[in-house]
Amino acid sequence: MNRRNFIKNSCTACLSIAALPVVLNSCASLTNTTGKLVKDGLTLSTDDFKLNDKGSSAYRSFIIVRNEGLKYPVCVYRFSDKEYSALWMKCTHQGAELQASGDYLQCPAHGSEFNNKGEVTGGPAGNNLRTFPVTVNNNEIFIDLRKQS
Ligand code: FES
Repeated sequence: MNRRNFIKNSCTACLSIAALPVVLNSCASLTNTTGKLVKDGLTLSTDDFKLNDKGSSAYRSFIIVRNEGLKYPVCVYRFSDKEYSALWMKCTHQGAELQASGDYLQCPAHGSEFNNKGEVTGGPAGNNLRTFPVTVNNNEIFIDLRKQS
């Protein structure tokens, strides 16, 4: 290996190591929680959305609540400290479980897509997702499963 190749390979290795935290951080943006099933709904903490970087005030844009008491997961999107949406992750076409991908949900069965408010943006599904009212009290998020918002 000549000097030029050594320097080139060394720089490539250093850049790869420097990029690792960025890659790991983007992986941390996907998370699951069980939440807490209570009478009439689900609760979770606003802290569940915090990224765990020291001194950072960054938040995840969504989390997926998977609880054995629920037939489908609920995807909760965070828009601000007080504004969230809670979406039933059941496709309105034929009932497949949806997958969250950034600001939208996609159906693995036939490709329907829904935005982070649950509105259908791509067929074959023709109806919006079931959504639930969300209230925030101090650090507690309450998702009312009795109602549809
Ligand atoms: S079940 Fe989701 S698009 Fe068909």
